[in-house]
Amino acid sequence: MEILVTGGAGFIGSHTCLELIKANYKIIVVDNLSNSSTESLQRVEELTNGQITFYECDLLDRKSLVEVFEHHEIKAVIHFAGLKAVGESVSIPLHYYHNNITGTLVLCDVMQQFEVKKLVFSSSATVYGIPEQVPINERFPLSATNPYGRTKLMIEEILRDLVTSDPEWSIALLRYFNPIGAHESGMIGESPNGIPNNLMPYITQVAVGRLGNLNIYGSDYPTSDGTGVRDYIHVVDLALGHLKALEKVLLTTGVDAYNLGTGKGHTVLEMVETFEKVSKKRIPYNIVERRPGDVAMCYADPSKAKKELGWIATRGIEEMCKDSWRWQSNNPNGYKNHTYSSESGIQFRLISRKH
Ligand code: UD1
Repeated sequence: MEILVTGGAGFIGSHTCLELIKANYKIIVVDNLSNSSTESLQRVEELTNGQITFYECDLLDRKSLVEVFEHHEIKAVIHFAGLKAVGESVSIPLHYYHNNITGTLVLCDVMQQFEVKKLVFSSSATVYGIPEQVPINERFPLSATNPYGRTKLMIEEILRDLVTSDPEWSIALLRYFNPIGAHESGMIGESPNGIPNNLMPYITQVAVGRLGNLNIYGSDYPTSDGTGVRDYIHVVDLALGHLKALEKVLLTTGVDAYNLGTGKGHTVLEMVETFEKVSKKRIPYNIVERRPGDVAMCYADPSKAKKELGWIATRGIEEMCKDSWRWQSNNPNGYKNHTYSSESGIQFRLISRKH
């Protein structure tokens, strides 16, 4: 059974590809490589002894996407492709709306044309906006505080309209909390472009000497130590959640949203201390002003995913920190400096190349 993975070369995408191959799915990846590298896929192939068919293709390029569907018997799509930097989305909103929303519209339209109506969508806990309480369940009111968040929210609504219009569709909306960690091999992981916006890649880059002090955004929140609380989830647990969601959409119809989190909240200082403990590196930090738009506490009620998908996260923050550190210390520059080698087993079908 062939599964199309959009954005499969990225952080969560590559970890999901690995688990899909391990579970014997045949996968096709489309990615425009705007924030990723084929090196991740090459390493997934090495780790699994498997084969990935890769197309450098932008979802906005409908003609190329149609060609991909013509060449394969695609049964379902896992859709990761999208831009995700909150600050950047405020500066260039039109680019975010066009890329994320139009990209998804094109994808769904092509899926419909080929009668592929099974979709797992990469949403985010950001759709809960500023939650009134924690833990957050899927029935909480939805809102957005920035264009990035609004693209996720709008796409969720578009996908719900699609299911209403044609009940043959089956869609899972996966609302991720804070994905960190890396595959235990230390061969694949998160490799952000430029200075990381998110906590864990910032910490690992401080530890490896690429960045100076960590800035902790606020120590006056109403939390145990005053720093923000988040639900950090190991990327391998998250990847396994996609497999469970895929199994469900393949067997059912309709649309459902699921929180993918651990249900446990940890403060920034707890994360720093745990990272220091497992890495034996000191993370110097400064306490600075709160970051605009941040909430005090955000963690999931993940019981719906447990009940309906049979999924729970099993990895704790020590393992997350250990794996993030193994990845970063083995790859101080991430995937940078690695270019595609023709020795790789990745089948390159360059049907569209963006310059
Ligand atoms: C952020 C985004 C969210 C997005 C998610 C994707 C914002 C406001 N939110 O979530 O929309 O879906 O990433 O991964 O950008 N922190 C520091 N110093 C840092 C970085 C972070 O103290 O250098 C703190 C933050 O204040 C927060 C916690 O660490 O309390 C986690 O931050 P981060 O990793 O950026 O995730 P979110 O803000 O939860």
